[in-house]
Amino acid sequence: MIDLRSDTITRPTPEMRQAMADAEVGDDVFGEDPTVRRLEEEVAALLGKEAALYVPSGHMANQIAVYVSVDSGEEVWAHELGHVVANEQGGLSVLCRALPRTYSAPEGYPPQELLEHWAAGIDDVHRARPGLVSLENTFIGRVVPIAAQRRVADFAHTNGMRLHLDGARLWNAAVALGVAPAQVASGTDTVSVCFSKGLGAPVGSAVAGDAGTIRRARRARKLFGGGMRQAGIIAAGALHALHHHIDRLADDHARAERLADGISRVSGLSAVARTNMVLVTTPEGRAARYAEAFTGHGVGCFPMGPQTIRLVTHLEITDADIDEAVAGIGKAASLL
Ligand SMILES: Cc1ncc(COP(=O)(O)O)c(C=O)c1O
Repeated sequence: MIDLRSDTITRPTPEMRQAMADAEVGDDVFGEDPTVRRLEEEVAALLGKEAALYVPSGHMANQIAVYVSVDSGEEVWAHELGHVVANEQGGLSVLCRALPRTYSAPEGYPPQELLEHWAAGIDDVHRARPGLVSLENTFIGRVVPIAAQRRVADFAHTNGMRLHLDGARLWNAAVALGVAPAQVASGTDTVSVCFSKGLGAPVGSAVAGDAGTIRRARRARKLFGGGMRQAGIIAAGALHALHHHIDRLADDHARAERLADGISRVSGLSAVARTNMVLVTTPEGRAARYAEAFTGHGVGCFPMGPQTIRLVTHLEITDADIDEAVAGIGKAASLL
């Protein structure tokens, strides 16, 4: 099976396992794990923030960031397909006591006119107070331009709101843009990043921001049950990933392009590559059937909508796998 379901399925490399085995550890709830502390310092520096906090998952990183950014009953503005809205079990309402206000936009960020429309009457006593804008970069593989992000940040700050960035795949955005990760995180009040996606670590994410925000985030992590003890074992995997697996994301992006090219030559299908994701368009309403057939021919994937299938390249995928996947997809499509 060539598993292109997600970049989360990777297993630690032998070198990463060795780094984990060798990790110096302590009780991180007491602040005594040197490896976790080193990871948090390196992540903060990479993202251009004062501090960072290691957490078990991207989901928890996002929820903690929102929790410490809004007061009860405030609005969080986010894309309707954003992970924080669509894939975190309503955590914005359940955990953060916030009111999601969602928009739809193919480019993944809100148009200026919409922001201005929503901000009109911001002081109306009938309205929930707007507290936070949440962006995602990359958004379903798509790089959100830094200038667009900067416009949203300026708008949020001018209107007394904060900006969170779900940067689960911020590393991919930075590599695709050829800029430092800190540039992608610039202008944000909080940013979450993941080590267990394209970077290939087994566990963990971080939330970064100013020192006061991260102090509150540390308390929130304990409230959410995310305090970990000898977490240096897994933090060492994340550190190894930061040191060795960022630049190689360019290979994943190139393989995604090669995969999209190959699939576009298959009759009835078209495909586009966005960083490490390939979105395949099938005939109307047939994505589930096609995804099942691709899987049956050895190419693991998920349907993302009635006409779209998502394929994701990652650390364990080689050029030969891409060629084999294109052949499997071609065979599967010819039988439908
Ligand atoms: C954009 C985005 N944000 C957050 C997450 C959550 O990460 P985790 O699975 O570590 O909770 C994901 C997971 O795939 C994601 O794609």
